[in-house]
Amino acid sequence: MSVLISPSVLAADFARLGEEVRAVDEAGADMIHLDIMDGHFVPNLTVGPDVVKALRPYSDKPFDVHLMITPNPAIVESFAEAGADLISVHPEPDPHIHRTLQAIRAMGKKAGAAINPGTPVEILEPLYELCDVILVMSVNPGFGGQSFMPASVERIRHIRRRIDELGLDTILEVDGGVNPETAPKIIGAGAHALVAGTAIFRSKENSYAKAVERLRLGT
Ligand code: DX5
Ligand code: ZN
Repeated sequence: MSVLISPSVLAADFARLGEEVRAVDEAGADMIHLDIMDGHFVPNLTVGPDVVKALRPYSDKPFDVHLMITPNPAIVESFAEAGADLISVHPEPDPHIHRTLQAIRAMGKKAGAAINPGTPVEILEPLYELCDVILVMSVNPGFGGQSFMPASVERIRHIRRRIDELGLDTILEVDGGVNPETAPKIIGAGAHALVAGTAIFRSKENSYAKAVERLRLGT
């Protein structure tokens, strides 16, 4: 299975977000990762559905929207309407995660469950069948530029095993501290979608295309 790369625009130049989205699209990104934070579930604030909508014309690639918020049906729907293709939500702040995932699918979007490093992987057991994507956080969410937590490798391996045992074709995506050193371990553990902010937008070689390709090849 080829590895999908989803650049996180959290590390992009926010004054030129549209151009940055276009640039990573042209650099070979498979999806565009948009981090939405509400200042409650995570200690940071980013953007809302209006910005997602404003960015939509800059790429035809799927918008991979990561909601780090305490969700409510109206706000999830507003991201779907803004042009999200894949919407990942966290079970930790959501007492109705089952319903939220079902609602995302009912809107014709791919539904993702995202879990923090401190959340037992067993929280996913009742959710596997409802997910098109599982997003494993390999840092505590809220900020870009953090170091990959090595314990994530075992968690990825466990989730890969469960997806295979259940006979699902869920996308297993990893987010946080993904770079050319950590990518091979992540891919080796069975993930095939990588989110990367710093490693792409702030790569030393100054080429988004090279940064994307390096992560995809796991070299
Ligand atoms: C973290 C976000 C990530 C973040 C990753 O809260 O969910 O998507 O942008 O950034 P890097 O790749 O710099 O760790
Ligand atoms: Zn993210």
